Amino acid sequence: MRILSGIQTSGTLHIGNYFGAMRQHVAWQERGEVIYFLADYHSMTSVRDAAERRGYAREMALDYLACGLDPQRAILYRQSDVPETCELAWILTTVTPMGLLQRAHSYKDKVAQGLQPDHGLFAYPVLMAADILQYNPDVVPVGQDQKQHLEMTRDIAGRFNHTYGVEVFALPDPEIVESVAVVPGTDGRKMSKAYGNTLEMFAGKKALKKAVMGVVTDSTPVEAPKKTDTALFQLWSLFAEKDEREEMFARARAGGLGYGDVKKDLLARLLDFFGPMRERRDELAGRPDDVEDILSDGARRAREISGPILAAARDAAGLGPA
Ligand code: ADP
Ligand code: TRP
Repeated sequence: MRILSGIQTSGTLHIGNYFGAMRQHVAWQERGEVIYFLADYHSMTSVRDAAERRGYAREMALDYLACGLDPQRAILYRQSDVPETCELAWILTTVTPMGLLQRAHSYKDKVAQGLQPDHGLFAYPVLMAADILQYNPDVVPVGQDQKQHLEMTRDIAGRFNHTYGVEVFALPDPEIVESVAVVPGTDGRKMSKAYGNTLEMFAGKKALKKAVMGVVTDSTPVEAPKKTDTALFQLWSLFAEKDEREEMFARARAGGLGYGDVKKDLLARLLDFFGPMRERRDELAGRPDDVEDILSDGARRAREISGPILAAARDAAGLGPA
């Protein structure tokens, strides 16, 4: 079974990304041939600074490896190291109806938020289709927010096959990762880099402490019973076993539990949970050439898979000599 996914390199990863995506990505390597890429071409629709883009890709490579992705088994590459992806995007864009792209929620949302769209943002789903179809993967694990993009990929694949009368592309199945539930941010909304309400996986201890202490709480006095369906308790629960959770929630309901103590415990658990990964990451960060080697080896292995599929697409479309 071949599994493919990508994460856009447009920010620093937070614990929502970890519990909602990365942890599952790492787990998939036990189940088949996994290919993950650092989507730096996609980041061009939002990040406009070259050094920043390079930095995010490098940091994210470290994050993946620190979280247990094994480069012997898994293929990890930087999207722009496989520029043929862009050729396929062009080939696919010529069979993509305008109406299909105009219906994209993610595009419509961004425009509704007042973003001045450029063609890159509009064509984003076509590049995403190229990312996927060049490998004919069996499954594409993504969050719920990407479901429509996957449906568009299936549609575009079908149109290419139909147009040229050859079954070059398989229609991939989305595997919607039902994450532990949406991880709340420090302000109680969904944790997202766009809201500046994140707990970064590998932020410095001081910065993490500040962020954890800033998690919103109400003004219930210490002695009073507390509600447990709040951001603080949800965050704390990510790092607790079921019986610990039941005990903590019972204490909260009984009254006498201070939010400050819960925050202190959350910080300790968070540091503890990510501690071994943090050590591994620091160690890898000291060997940038090795990380670069892992990425270029990943790109080479990715190309071995995509080469014949791309050649079949070019051939079907009558590009190049027969
Ligand atoms: P952000 O909202 O910070 O920009 P992205 O949209 O880049 O994050 O998401 C990258 C991955 O992490 C996606 O698979 C997404 O489903 C997952 N993810 C992001 N935020 C959360 C969250 N708060 N809870 C659970 N999963 C999340
Ligand atoms: N659009 C995805 C996101 O924002 C990232 C992505 C780009 C992707 N290309 C992909 C995910 C291909 C899966 C497959 O999260």
